[in-house]
Order: sequence, then structure tokens, then C-alpha cells
Amino acid sequence: MATASLKLDDKEYPLPVIVGTEGEKAIDTRKLRAETGYIAYDQGYGNTGSCESAITYLDGDNGVLRHRGYPIDQLAQFSDYVETAYLIIYGELPNPAKRKEFGLLLRKNAAVETQMQKIFEGFPKDAPPMAMLSSIVGSLAAHYPQLATNNFEKDLKTFDLAAAMAISKIRTIGAMIYRYQKGLPYIFPKQELPFCENFLHMMFSEPYKDYVAEPEVAKALNLLLLLHADHEQNCSTSTVRMVGSSAANLFTSLSAGISALSGPLHGGANTAVMQMLQSIHDEGDDGTRFIAAAKSGSKSNRLMGFGHPVYRNFDPRAKIIGKACDDVLKKLGIKDPLLEIAKHLEQAALKDDYFVSRKLYPNVDFYSGIIMRAIGIPTNMFTVIFAIGRAPGEIANWREVAANPKGRIYRPRQVYVGPVKRDYVPMTQRT
Ligand code: CMC
Repeated sequence: MATASLKLDDKEYPLPVIVGTEGEKAIDTRKLRAETGYIAYDQGYGNTGSCESAITYLDGDNGVLRHRGYPIDQLAQFSDYVETAYLIIYGELPNPAKRKEFGLLLRKNAAVETQMQKIFEGFPKDAPPMAMLSSIVGSLAAHYPQLATNNFEKDLKTFDLAAAMAISKIRTIGAMIYRYQKGLPYIFPKQELPFCENFLHMMFSEPYKDYVAEPEVAKALNLLLLLHADHEQNCSTSTVRMVGSSAANLFTSLSAGISALSGPLHGGANTAVMQMLQSIHDEGDDGTRFIAAAKSGSKSNRLMGFGHPVYRNFDPRAKIIGKACDDVLKKLGIKDPLLEIAKHLEQAALKDDYFVSRKLYPNVDFYSGIIMRAIGIPTNMFTVIFAIGRAPGEIANWREVAANPKGRIYRPRQVYVGPVKRDYVPMTQRT
């Protein structure tokens, strides 16, 4: 076993090396502080492995993404969202019996019971949908306390039901948020409908007229959810792990993950991309002004849908989505001027030295909004769709934390840079 060595003040400290199944290497610094008095400093954890995980492998330099060993392009081509969710959570592709059992559990746990429906009424009609989603998902812990005991051993015994409930109900809650905000009556799930068709039914049906999803529309939604199903230690999934590490139950941890996802630099980027494309369109610009502003280096002017904390060549999900976007719009006979603007923006940025030299490429959010718009989902619901899709990855990560007998509570250190010790000043002496 290789060891790294650290020299500090003329003393040498051996540090163990960990190698993952795909050859990723890490220096184990867990005992660094105890042995040397130093901590490892890594603002934003960009170079820190916070856990060992067997769920997803991501090689950002080469645009590789695999769930439980299966490449994302194969899953996108041959699998569907529900099967991929099972794979991510349980580690293997389901056999026909397991697939049926899992599907049934999702179908049986889709409805949101009457008492929970009342929570919606407490929100303003124009509340941000992600704020509603995280609160209402958090309330699952209050409505199903037998599945949310805050005791790993007990919660793992009821995990299958809690996981299926979370995946299925997050989708129903998402559709209900949409209906609530539009002042429309809720449409209840239909047990006989597949996962995506059921979501579209709950979103778009009218009281006496069922919405029947075109196969292309259901397929496009399926692909979108599948491509978002997991993404290694992203901000929201790591949040779920962090909250879960305190032995907080699955629903509470997922609610925290949804909050993390709402930010515009993370899950909120799909909404921001659409707003950006729309304002370019409204102003009759061709994107030149946006690109120039994005090069200023200011965080508030970034070219949304571009760049990624780990992908440095391309985001494999963006390649799949970019192609799907063309196909879906063609099949639905939609000509969207925003797609033309997006394509122009992409071509211009990929030729611009600012973006090329910083290795900034389109990410999954760049084209996903155009697909969502084509299937009738309003912009303010885009991040909710991301949250529905991301649930399996967050659930699988929570389970890894709960099932790890050697797990510790997440508790990073810091380098304190505030005032040094000083004595309390009474109010009368303060200027
Ligand atoms: N537009 C303009 N400049 C950018 C952008 C952008 N979209 N992204 C990064 N940069 C610049 C950044 O200012 C920095 O410049 P400099 O070296 O001159 O200081 C340089 O590129 C390197 O940035 P970085 O270290 O690669 O970026 P990061 O890891 O801090 O941030 C990011 C990653 C995704 C937050 C950022 O690229 C961004 O804000 N993109 C736009 C928002 C977005 O699309 N987010 C969705 C991410 S994918 C979905 C998900 O997993 O959440």
C-alpha cells in the first residue's frame, strides 16, 4: 500500500493513501490534526473526499458519469427513470419481479393525504415553488413519524417504504404546488399510470378531462429525470449526507437537500438559463451583450448553464440533452426561438477565449429548460423537476450514511480569522 509523506517543521509524517475501484487516489488526512496540530484547508471542499461511496463514478476531466458502474449514455438510451432510481438506490438493475414490486410501491404511495393538503393553504399563491417543496417534503417526517424516528437502525428497517414514498410523493407535491399556485383544483394520482405520465396527469388534467400525455412528452420527461437522478457529491446531495450524518431521518435530510438545490448556482440554474434566454429574446439581442457581461468576472453576470465545478471538457448529460432537445421539438412540431438563441450563444462562447481558456462548457441546465418549456412546464417549476429527478441519488446517499457502522457526524473544521480575545465593553462605555 502506497503512503504519502508530509514534512512539517523538519518532522516527517506518513499519511495513508486510499485508492478507489476506478483508480481515484486520496490522501487520508483523518489523523492529521491529532498527529500534527494542522488541519487540511480546502474552502468549498473542492479537493476533499468527504466519504467513500459506491453509487456514482464521475471523472470530470474526461466527461465520464456512471451509476453503479453503468455509463449514463447507456442508461439514457436503454433504461428509464424508475429503473435507474432502483439501480441507484439498491445497487443493481432490478429483475422483473423486483421492478414490479418497486413500481407498485411507488404507485401505492403517490397520494398526498388530506391533512397534508392543508399545508399548501398556508403559503402565499406566489411563493417560490422550491420554498414550498422543501417545507412540504420536510413535513413528511411529521406525517409519517413511524418512518422518521431519527434512529438509523429503526429508519433502515422501514427504508424501502420511506424511499418509495419520498420519490413518489415529491412528484405529487410538485404537481400540487403548480396547481395551487394557478388556483386550480388538485388532480389526484392514478394508480394505473406510469411515473411520468402520472405526473403530467396531475399537472395538466382538467376536472372532467384527463390529460393524456403524448408518448414523446412522457419520454422527454423520463429522460430529464433520469439524467438528474444522481451526480455524486454535488451541493444538495452532500447536504443530505451532512444532515443525515446527525442521524436525522430521510425526509428531513431530503428537505435540506431540496433547499440546497434551490440556489441559482446549483438546481436553480435551469430557471436562470431560461430567464437569460428570454431576456435576450425580448431585447432583440443575439447574446453578444450577455457574453460580454459574463466575461466581467462578476458572479451575478455569469453565462447561466455554462461551467461546472467538476466537468472540465464536457458535461456528458448536456450532450445527451442537447440532442434530445432537437428531437423533442421536432417530434412535437415546435419551433422555439429560444433554442436558436441558445445554439448561437453556445457557438459564440465555445469560440471565445474567455470560456475556452477556463474550460467552460454547456452543462445539463443549458438545454433542459427548453425541453421543459416544450412539454408545458412553466419556468418557475424547472427546479422542482430537477428536485424530483435528484431524489434517488439523495436517498441512496442518505442510506449509505445511515448504514455505515463507522460513520461519523459531519463536522468540518475552520481557520478562524476573526478578532483575537478581547474583554467585554459595558454599554455605557461604547461610542
Ligand atoms: N460564466 C462566466 N464566467 C464563469 C462561469 C460562467 N458561467 N463559470 C465560471 N466562470 C469563471 C469564474 O468567474 C472563474 O473566473 P476567474 O478564473 O477569472 O476567476 C473561472 O470561470 C473558473 O470558475 P470555476 O472555478 O470553474 O467555477 P466554480 O467551480 O466556482 O463554479 C459553477 C462552478 C457551476 C457554479 C459556475 O460555473 C457557474 O456559476 N455557472 C453558471 C451557473 C450554472 O450553470 N450552474 C449549474 C451547474 S450544473 C447543475 C448542477 O449540478 O447544479
